[in-house]
Amino acid sequence: MIFISIFFALGLTLIAFARPEPPINCPGLPDDFTLQNYTKLTDPFTDVRGKKITTKQQWACRRQEISQLLQQYELGPLPPKPARFFATFQDGVLNITTFEGSKYTSFAVQVVGNEAGTSRQPIPAIISLGGLSIPKPDGIASITFNNDEIANQGGLQSRGVGKFYDLYGSDHPASATIAWAWGVARIIDALEGTTGHNIDPTKLALTGCSRNGKGTIVAGAFNDRIALTIPQESGTGGTGCWRIADQNEVEGVNVQTLREIVTENVWFSPTLDEFVNKTTLLPFDHHLLAALIAPRALLDVASSAFSWLGPESQFGCMKTAHKVWEALGVPDNMGISEIGDHNHCAFPDTQQGDLDAYIQKFLLGQDSDTNILKTDLEDNAGFVEKDWIEWATPTLA
Ligand SMILES: *[C@@H]1O[C@H](CO)[C@@H](O)[C@H](O)[C@H]1NC(C)=O
Ligand SMILES: *[C@@H]1O[C@H](CO)[C@@H](O)[C@H](O)[C@H]1NC(C)=O
Ligand SMILES: *[C@@H]1O[C@H](CO)[C@@H](O)[C@H](O)[C@H]1NC(C)=O
Repeated sequence: MIFISIFFALGLTLIAFARPEPPINCPGLPDDFTLQNYTKLTDPFTDVRGKKITTKQQWACRRQEISQLLQQYELGPLPPKPARFFATFQDGVLNITTFEGSKYTSFAVQVVGNEAGTSRQPIPAIISLGGLSIPKPDGIASITFNNDEIANQGGLQSRGVGKFYDLYGSDHPASATIAWAWGVARIIDALEGTTGHNIDPTKLALTGCSRNGKGTIVAGAFNDRIALTIPQESGTGGTGCWRIADQNEVEGVNVQTLREIVTENVWFSPTLDEFVNKTTLLPFDHHLLAALIAPRALLDVASSAFSWLGPESQFGCMKTAHKVWEALGVPDNMGISEIGDHNHCAFPDTQQGDLDAYIQKFLLGQDSDTNILKTDLEDNAGFVEKDWIEWATPTLA
């Protein structure tokens, strides 16, 4: 990467030229790819050509394929790093300007709690979509990302509104959640490219609750530089699976579904509309969205208190996702804590220990027991594996 510092007065500003992704030679989707009707949870370990995944190297390509499918059918395309950007850090504000062609846009994020860091011993940080709704851990900085400013989520009429669309055009097919993933990437670019904030950009967590929890799982999945992803009470469209929610609705549960979600807001691309009442045609479900995070750390902070969030769907979907971490040999890098003793997004004391364990191990580098896969509902919240999973979990060589 080539840096050219231009604004010497600030000493903190830079222009960076895009850094190409390291190439992996994967086949990509076949030209004759067609959707199949599959009523169970899709197999992470068989690719679209029907080939079994047996090695970590093959998983890297399967992962790329899943990423491509999610962008094509549900999220819209994630643009690469802009050709040029510059960033400054001053008075607790990280200010980021990005350029594409003749257009540019600026946004700023607030950093607090970074005083504890020194240039010799930088500290971890948690980036929150829309503000923290978990308690801020000691010794960790907090970065508030006003994601609504990047892509508005004010109902269907807010499609294409926000700074992302100022840069890429209001008809750009990116959903709000993938636009937020782009915003998170720019924040990390800016942390890497500025000094004075005393934050270690290799020790970043990401969190957000409810609708911003949906954004958190997407942004965690599409940002390899996030060490720990903590979606909170994200429900359907987040850590719940479309298929399980639909099945639960048939059974009489008042749960959010794909049919409802595409009429409510712009969290997904208009391409998802064609799957209303047809979620079984999707070549993935959200266990595979979560699986893009593996082997990095994920803690799903879920609530069992609201049928709308889909307690069985969240628990079952994430239990299924967990099999990818098992296959990669790192089962303790992914946990589920589903507890229902509190109001929506009011983080309770009963989940504090689970959160602390993940923060300690994945941000602070301390030992802790992160083998946490629990719900406070009986019988795994109703989730019966054999009803949903008809594939085996390999140990990837
Ligand atoms: C961020 O930088 C842009 C471009 O220099 C500037 O217009 C804007 O006022 C800055 N915002 C903040 C909050 O400092
Ligand atoms: C989906 O199913 C619901 C309920 O069965 C029905 O009211 C609605 O018209 C269907 N929508 C589409 C797009 O098929
Ligand atoms: C998929 O298959 C199921 C079970 O055979 C059937 O009930 C459903 O209508 C099919 N869905 C689509 C979209 O073809």
